[in-house]
Amino acid sequence: MPLLTIMPSGTALEVAPGTTLLAAILSAGEKLISKCGGQAQCGACHIAVNEGRKSLSKTTRAENEKLDALVGVSSKSRLACQAQMGEENVTVELLSFV
Ligand code: FES
Repeated sequence: MPLLTIMPSGTALEVAPGTTLLAAILSAGEKLISKCGGQAQCGACHIAVNEGRKSLSKTTRAENEKLDALVGVSSKSRLACQAQMGEENVTVELLSFV
C-alpha cells in the first residue's frame, strides 16, 4: 500500500487507496480540525501536499471554491476531507495543527 507521510511530525503510515487524507491523518493520531464533517465547507482541514499530488483524487468543484476563498489558487493546497489517496506515496504538511 502507498505510504502517507505527515509533516511536521514525520509520522508515516500505509493508507489504502480511496481513503481520505483526513481519515488517514486522524487515524495516525495527528490533530486536524474538521468543523463541517468533511463537507468541504469549513476549510479547517486545509493542508499542503508536498509530494505525490498527482496521485490524489481530483479536486472537486466544492473543494476548489473553498480553497479559492481561503487562500486563492495554490498548487499545493488541498482539503484533507476531500482528497483521497491514490496508488503512490504522498507527503503532506499540516497547516492548522493545534
Ligand atoms: S472538514 Fe470542513 S472542509 Fe474539510
